[in-house]
Amino acid sequence: MATERGLGRRLANYGDRDFARYLRRSFAKSMGYSDEMLDRPVIGIVDTGSGYNNCHRTVPELIAAASRGVLAAGGLPLPFPTVSLCEPSLFPTSMHYRNLAALDTEAMLTAQPMDAAILVGGCDKTVPAQLMAAASADIPCVQLVTGPMLATPFQGERLSACTDCRRYWAAYRAGTIDAARIAEVEGQLATTAGSCGVMGTASTMACLVETLGFMPAGHASIPAVHAARLRAAEEAGRMAMRLATAAAPVRPSDLITPESVENALRVLLALGGSTNALVHLTAIAGRRGVRVDLDRLNALSDTTPVLVDLKPTGSGYMEDFHAAGGMPALLWELRDLLHPGTPDLAGVPLGARLAAPAYVDRRIIRARDEPVSPEGGLVALSGTLAPRGAILKRSAATPSLFETTQRAIVFDGLADLAERIDSPDLGATADDILVLKNAGPRSAAGMPEAGYLPIPRALAVAGVRDMVRMSDCRMSGTAFGTIVLHITPEAAAGGPLALVETGDRIRLSVRERRLDLLVPDETLARRRAAWTPPALPARGWDRIVAEQVLQADEGCDLGVLRG
Ligand code: FES
Ligand code: MG
Repeated sequence: MATERGLGRRLANYGDRDFARYLRRSFAKSMGYSDEMLDRPVIGIVDTGSGYNNCHRTVPELIAAASRGVLAAGGLPLPFPTVSLCEPSLFPTSMHYRNLAALDTEAMLTAQPMDAAILVGGCDKTVPAQLMAAASADIPCVQLVTGPMLATPFQGERLSACTDCRRYWAAYRAGTIDAARIAEVEGQLATTAGSCGVMGTASTMACLVETLGFMPAGHASIPAVHAARLRAAEEAGRMAMRLATAAAPVRPSDLITPESVENALRVLLALGGSTNALVHLTAIAGRRGVRVDLDRLNALSDTTPVLVDLKPTGSGYMEDFHAAGGMPALLWELRDLLHPGTPDLAGVPLGARLAAPAYVDRRIIRARDEPVSPEGGLVALSGTLAPRGAILKRSAATPSLFETTQRAIVFDGLADLAERIDSPDLGATADDILVLKNAGPRSAAGMPEAGYLPIPRALAVAGVRDMVRMSDCRMSGTAFGTIVLHITPEAAAGGPLALVETGDRIRLSVRERRLDLLVPDETLARRRAAWTPPALPARGWDRIVAEQVLQADEGCDLGVLRG
């Protein structure tokens, strides 16, 4: 009789356990497996390949390589599909579905028999969803990422998704390039398989996952089309088998701790990484009851230099980061700032797995005494406009705009923004603050990456490249500008942002970490009395989100899914 391992785990409820086991093996045999295979430890492999997901184009070959590693180590690899989320493919946003992917993945990790799992993700929301699921399911998991795409040499420069997409689009809006040129560039921005080739959300998350110990050293940045990416997949298979056969395997709950989350925050800051990664890390940590505190983030930010010179903050691409030494080199550079005791999947503490790299390209990974910037890339703000916080990616912003008290030009939502941003009647100047509301996690907009409000066309044509913009939504990890994001509580939840009107004055002080609405309390009270919350969606996932989603300071997880 099989042990309660492999296919013997988690038997379906038929009221007769021996029958359940017999039935399961009978059906497994219909797939052509021998007894020798069915007695092996089972490694579940999460398959997020999809015809909609360009970033996951290589998932079939990654699964083949991971399966090879599992088979070679004596296990049975069983891939299974889950929700696949590709950024530009989803309405209203991929963020709206991250928790659905997390819920789906957790349910399948928990329901199906497996001794360990390999999570194959890559595009922005997939890896966060998988780690949220792993944290809750708490079965041993290896994270494998698709890896970044390669940049494309093009007419004397290099292009990659999607900082260059935004740069070219901004030039098109400003009228400095024409329609033929923007169409020509369209075919050069993303030319290989893989996730976006800059330090956007996908790359940032991969680096944080390596920091947390869910993958071997150096694996985060291997390009998607490099042969080493397939070897990493094979190694993930062997690693999953080591977990499956260990007496006391390292579990997600061993890897997600207050200390490891703080290490991940340090790395996020040193990378000049994506603002979205903060939301995702908060959600992942929240599954284990670990809170990401914004005051603590600011304290870390003040003492963590930006060391990595990649777009959108700097100039390089992910392939440069990989060639420069990748995460092992960065972690070594940060070693005195990190908690040394946090383990990886092999149980080795961080301090023991760091080693001086043989080679570091200092153009991409700077030494501590020659940082890209002496302070961390992100800073949290709070004040009367954001009682529970907001985020500014200062490393991708314009310092001359950091201390500002100006008039707000307010857009009520995405439709209003689209309708009026380029209108000659808008009357905005470069000194004004553009404010977008009703685009947070609970809104029908689904917390889009619309925080990167376009510069009004008249100003863009006049040469304005940046102005202060703020909202309750997100921006792409590949975007740049003086942009305050994730204002919490959001407008749709009745936060002060809901009450802002055009003509109000707003004070931003990065030095004081403040964001204040300079409107008398009586005026705000009058506006609040007239405010009505948005109607709930009628049914389905939209309804579940509207009723359950938490604010950005809790990672925008669903309340019912938190640890
Ligand atoms: Fe998938 Fe950027 S769109 S990683
Ligand atoms: Mg992105």
